[in-house]
Amino acid sequence: MRLYSLLAAAKINLYLEIVGDRPDGFHELIMVMQSISLADRVTVRSIGVDTIRLVCHHPLVPTDHTNLAYRAAALLVQRFPGIMGKWGGVEITLDKQIPVGAGLAGGSSNAAAVLVGLDLLWQLGLTQGELQALGAELGSDVPFCIAGGTLFATGRGEQLDSLPGIEDLWVVLAKYQSAMVSTPWAYGTYRSQFGHGYRRDFAPRRSQVKAGPMVAALTHRDSLTMGQHLYNDLEKVVLPAQPQTAQLKATMAELGASVGALGTLMSGSGPSVFTLVSHQAEADQLVQQLRQALPDPDLDLWTAQCLPHGVQLVEQ
Ligand code: C5P
Repeated sequence: MRLYSLLAAAKINLYLEIVGDRPDGFHELIMVMQSISLADRVTVRSIGVDTIRLVCHHPLVPTDHTNLAYRAAALLVQRFPGIMGKWGGVEITLDKQIPVGAGLAGGSSNAAAVLVGLDLLWQLGLTQGELQALGAELGSDVPFCIAGGTLFATGRGEQLDSLPGIEDLWVVLAKYQSAMVSTPWAYGTYRSQFGHGYRRDFAPRRSQVKAGPMVAALTHRDSLTMGQHLYNDLEKVVLPAQPQTAQLKATMAELGASVGALGTLMSGSGPSVFTLVSHQAEADQLVQQLRQALPDPDLDLWTAQCLPHGVQLVEQ
């Protein structure tokens, strides 16, 4: 097979708590991450020349070595010298559906798909754990994007533990096209505003984390209680900086309540906001109500299903 196509699922954060600064400059996090069916299609194809070529027609996505998908391929070439001599180079095509700069791990999911795809194309035979260790070198969310589903994430976000899934639930996602958040800005601003409360010693801080009720609700498959414990520390810096997104969240929460939604939260570093609902019909109803309440062509809306997996191979 000289070509593999993969679906690279977006993620939302059902829970994101910032514990403190790590010695490596990143933040120590406690998260619950969830894959959703909004996905990019990533294709890896063998080419005759020994090069990495990236094709993407999205105006905001670079196609050079600054793209995480390109860097995923470059990392494998570096770790497996001579691999392109054996199999040829690779053309990576990204068909973007996940909005860029949205807090949905679009770039990380693309890199995850390239690792999984090239493992197949170049017959490397890597385990999921080995792929995730390589992914962690590229970005904190890449290991999650490889495995996907519903996972408890600690450390930088790369230490993963399984949780019972919520694949029967749906989300309505919303984002103003013109709104974007830089993840380093969000974490840096959080540090400057709340860093005085950080703990250097994570052990006592960890014992004070507020994730317990969320994890218990997931374990008991109690989606009503789970919806009440959706939480994201980064809302504290992103929503005040983006009043339009703050208003969007308030409207989604209000209209969501009228359709029986479980809860509303900003995902990751934003600015995308999601409302969790139990059934597809509620998601469709909420989208309709949002379009009426906020008739702004700049507002993008999607419905998506919670998934039990991350990167998935598309049957050829
Ligand atoms: O790991 P990744 O490259 O996706 O992270 C992007 C940025 O988000 C980092 O440069 C850092 O500013 C911030 N970050 C953090 N702590 C984490 C994850 C990300 O401070 N655990």
